Amino acid sequence: MDYQWYPGHMTKARRMMQENMSLVDLVIELVDARIPVSSRNPDIDKLCGNKARILVMTKADMADPVRTAAFQAQFEAQGMMVVAVDARTRKGNDKIKAYVEKACAAKRERDRRRGIIGRPLRAMVVGIPNVGKSTFINSFSGRAGTKTGNKPGVTRGKQWIRMNKDLELLDTPGILWPKFDDPQVGINLALTGAIRQELLEEQELSLSLLHFLQEEYPALLLDKYCGGDKKWELPMDDAELLTRIAEARNLVRAGAEPDYQRAAKLVLDDFRNGKIGRITLERPREVTDQ
Ligand code: G4P
Repeated sequence: MDYQWYPGHMTKARRMMQENMSLVDLVIELVDARIPVSSRNPDIDKLCGNKARILVMTKADMADPVRTAAFQAQFEAQGMMVVAVDARTRKGNDKIKAYVEKACAAKRERDRRRGIIGRPLRAMVVGIPNVGKSTFINSFSGRAGTKTGNKPGVTRGKQWIRMNKDLELLDTPGILWPKFDDPQVGINLALTGAIRQELLEEQELSLSLLHFLQEEYPALLLDKYCGGDKKWELPMDDAELLTRIAEARNLVRAGAEPDYQRAAKLVLDDFRNGKIGRITLERPREVTDQ
């Protein structure tokens, strides 16, 4: 599987972020809690410079809570302000707002000393495609959130969303990066739906997911596909497991051949919809060190 590419619109999106960085006071970086490392844009540190940053881990409702807590601690130890959320709800919003104030306290104080009062803080929201950026912005800004339109010095087509008189958000297009040094990053992004794989690659991708699940979440796998009676002995060959799943779900083609394509799609869809259970595809350091 080759996931190395950087389409033109990504280059444009990156340039847009770069150009607008000087207009914002802080960056709200969204990462997918199921792949908190793979979903972090390696360019982001360079792009943000020393802007204040808040890390929002979206889709925490689908991620392994133990790993989410460990990753959160890990990021916090690196000096970041971190909040794990289900972006579809408003839980976590108060904490994020408090962090925004904290991140910008020095800036507010500088403004105050210069006699600038009531200038809203501006935050740029960044994240990879499908991370939940629109969902987050909608629930964070609430229904009352309104687009403020283009600002002077801002390229056309940009979206400013006014949260309230104190805070404005700049929405940015989801971007991916030119190449993944680690092929597993590409696989993780495809598994969570950040990048679309070709139909033919679904089988390969599902085998890679099954391999991981056999190693790290075998009980969830059995509960989901083996009717909970634990007749299957894991680990087994990944292709054999896909065959068993096809058979268990009656996914067969003419001649009673297992329908691998449909079985692969089933497994991938189940994972993406959180139906196998709460799963994190990466190991926080504490888990890796064990
Ligand atoms: P984007 O702007 O970053 O591209 O992502 P978007 O908000 O469109 O979200 C992508 C999908 O992820 C949506 O599902 C959305 O509902 C879902 N989503 C976003 N945040 C969370 C979260 O924290 N938890 C869960 N469980 N799901 C989240 P969809 O299937 O594409 O659309 P729909 O279900 O809204 O119809």
